[in-house]
Amino acid sequence: MLVLKIKLKSRRIFYISILISVLLFAGSFSGVTYYGNELITKQQIKSQTELAKLDKTIADIKSKKIAEKAAADKKAADDAAARKAAETKATAETALKTQHDQAATPNCAISGAHGNPDQIDVLINKKHCFSPIDFAPSDIVYYQGYPVSNKIYSHLVSMLDAAASSGEVIGLTSAYRSYSNQLITYNKWVAVNGSTAAADTVSARPGYSEHQSGFAVDLDADNTCNLECFAKSSQYVWMKAHAADYGFVQRYQSGYESFTGYNAEAWHWRYVGSTVATDMKAKGIHTLEQYWGISGGGY
Ligand code: DAL
Ligand code: ZN
Repeated sequence: MLVLKIKLKSRRIFYISILISVLLFAGSFSGVTYYGNELITKQQIKSQTELAKLDKTIADIKSKKIAEKAAADKKAADDAAARKAAETKATAETALKTQHDQAATPNCAISGAHGNPDQIDVLINKKHCFSPIDFAPSDIVYYQGYPVSNKIYSHLVSMLDAAASSGEVIGLTSAYRSYSNQLITYNKWVAVNGSTAAADTVSARPGYSEHQSGFAVDLDADNTCNLECFAKSSQYVWMKAHAADYGFVQRYQSGYESFTGYNAEAWHWRYVGSTVATDMKAKGIHTLEQYWGISGGGY
């Protein structure tokens, strides 16, 4: 009996041990699975973050490359445009120099009486050009930012101050223009008017403009009204009445185109000194060509 009891007990212990072992094994297995899964999830998140970082790095490199290419393309286009502009300018200059050499104005180079560009009695027109052709005055000073010869400066200031005292606000839109500035100006008018023939009625070729002497100014009224508008202004009326007293003449007047070679310009005034200017006015002479007996008109 006792032996049977012991046997039964031992079998029970045996089964319980088996059960506990199974439970322990299952528990540890699920624990391993749980922690294993958590590790995998963490690694997945880490990988995704790293992938996202990598994507961003690639995207950054791509946009940097695109920006670099765009900048390189722009620089190439700018360089090409600058080269083209320089070529166009050089071609235009060569064409004009050639035009000048073959111009219908042989021996237009000024000299002798009224042929000294450093003197206020110089006469420049389509038949009388600067010598050298790219002459530049050596006494340029500035009036409100505009370059003029020092020989006219004080007279210009006195005249415009007197006008202002009378309530007439007169300013400058252009003054001394170098040979190359005149080339740009002339080419602009060729483009605007569509031909050199049309441009020649309103703009001098480089080497043929009074502006290159530093003795001519273009005026405006009330800081806004220039060119054709100036002809209708009270400031123009004031200039016609008083400019001669300060030594200025309206160089290109209506009805005298065949002497000057240019359409009338109400805004373009030339300093010749008050002796000449008042004498011309007193005698009713409208052009320097007629006053000094010098040829003018076309090239
Ligand atoms: N507009 C005048 C004629 C000049 O160009 O000098
Ligand atoms: Zn002018």
